[in-house]
Amino acid sequence: MNAEQAFGLYVHWPFCLSKCPYCDFNSHVRHAAVDEARFVRAYEAEIAATAARVRGRNVSTIFFGGGTPSLMQPSSVQAILDAAAKHWTIAPDVEVTLEANPTSVEAERFKGFRTAGVNRVSLGVQALDDASLKELGRLHTAQEALDAVAIARQSFDRYSFDLIYARPQQTIASWKAELERAISEAAEHLSLYQLTIEPDTPFFGLHAAGKLAIPDNDLARDLYDITQEICAAHGLPAYEISNHARPGAECRHNLVYWRGNEYAGVGPGAHGRLDIGGARYATATEKRPEAWLMRVEANGHGLTIDERLTGEERADEFLLMGLRLAEGIDPARYENLAGRPLDEKRVGILKSEGAVEVTPRGHLRVTQACFPVLDAVVADLAA
Ligand SMILES: C[S@@+](CC[C@H](N)C(=O)[O-])C[C@H]1O[C@@H](n2cnc3c(N)ncnc32)[C@H](O)[C@@H]1O
Ligand code: SF4
Repeated sequence: MNAEQAFGLYVHWPFCLSKCPYCDFNSHVRHAAVDEARFVRAYEAEIAATAARVRGRNVSTIFFGGGTPSLMQPSSVQAILDAAAKHWTIAPDVEVTLEANPTSVEAERFKGFRTAGVNRVSLGVQALDDASLKELGRLHTAQEALDAVAIARQSFDRYSFDLIYARPQQTIASWKAELERAISEAAEHLSLYQLTIEPDTPFFGLHAAGKLAIPDNDLARDLYDITQEICAAHGLPAYEISNHARPGAECRHNLVYWRGNEYAGVGPGAHGRLDIGGARYATATEKRPEAWLMRVEANGHGLTIDERLTGEERADEFLLMGLRLAEGIDPARYENLAGRPLDEKRVGILKSEGAVEVTPRGHLRVTQACFPVLDAVVADLAA
């Protein structure tokens, strides 16, 4: 398929069983039961409203993210997929991913998700030792997570799992062992995130109070380097700063974002990028789940942001997203969006510093050595 024609659908399910102390995603805990059927009707309505604006699309990827979408009933996932198929065409090789927490309760639903049309799961394993999982506030043990991975392997053609590294007390030796163990359980894809201390999370407060010691910059850098080395040696090179895959097994949905293609976002706090009348619109919906629900019931959609992007904004976004990829960006596409080429002098300086390089197909990319300081490189190029 032509990557330029890729069209993704992102569905945000905002509920979790408990809130992990490091997480700043739009995720909420509800002690009373969520009225799932009512939420599903709202997703159907929002898909219909979005499809009325971008008609005739051929959906190449669908991603159920969260929150914890594995808490949904398979019949709800099925209803949302049916709504997408009612309003758009669905590519025969569509990739349908669902994020799952690796508890036994959720793994029991995997077959149901498969029957509903999900063909890829992404499991939040986070760590393979119980003390770390406890510190991360997770509700599962390492064994339970590995059992869920085994069920995913039996249930889906494709699966991936996430680990968080640069955790408190982590050493190079312990991470090396954990990563090698993880790779022995992985198939084609792994997401490996460095722990980020996000503002407004319990970890932020603990860290500020000196009660959560995380690896310093030098150790974090060494952990990053060893991650690249081990994954590459096992045939899982990084195709994005935190994502590793066997060539050809990349998450096609995330590539839609990073390559600057078009996608619709439905559900509380979902973002979209829609191409309408030759312009690109950035959309976002109400983040609070019940407020989103009421907005959709009143207006047919939950949009709170719906802005036409300028060429300059599109070009900056293209740089910001595209330079996260090992494949880099096509400078001609940047020029097309910005109405001017990249600043040659800045590119020249960054090249001489070893921060960026040109690939054999003429793309500009950040060098492996400078990936950890990606934000600074992008800021320099976009300035
Ligand atoms: C939207 S979360 C969802 C997955 C699922 N709810 C779960 O937790 O298993 C996606 C991933 O982001 C990563 N993540 C979330 N907060 C993070 C943080 N502060 N630092 C590093 N990684 C983080 C975790 O690995 C998590 O699996
Ligand atoms: S990490 Fe996952 S399970 Fe934990 S609060 Fe965030 S979205 Fe929910």
